Amino acid sequence: MLTRIDHVGIVVHDLDASLKTYCDDLGFRLLQRVSIPEQMVEAAFLDAGNGTIELIAPTDESSGTARFLQNRGEGTHHICFEVDDIAAVLETLRGQGLRLIDETPRQGVHGLVAFVHPKATHGTMIELLQKHE
Ligand code: CO
Repeated sequence: MLTRIDHVGIVVHDLDASLKTYCDDLGFRLLQRVSIPEQMVEAAFLDAGNGTIELIAPTDESSGTARFLQNRGEGTHHICFEVDDIAAVLETLRGQGLRLIDETPRQGVHGLVAFVHPKATHGTMIELLQKHE
């Protein structure tokens, strides 16, 4: 159902500072930097070989990401798994009684996405991604 890890999302205070660490010091290559105004975040995707790393920084104090930072500090925010049919996976998870953040898929940077609540998955938020064709 969840076919492979697509990326690991890491929340940071300062995207430029985190890119310096991950690209200049750790040697990852920047693939894409995007602003996602509807989520009030900026994100950068890095090539990590068999997957990618998504660095995420809030652009507004009222965003969910800013609240995450205030409560838990910088660090792992979610693990994203690729799925073939996101609507079918959500339906299955709902049927199993798993708590979802997104009841229906929404448009993400690389395809349709939906989040599963971390309380349903032993503490780590899971992102489901059905990639664009
Ligand atoms: Co993500």
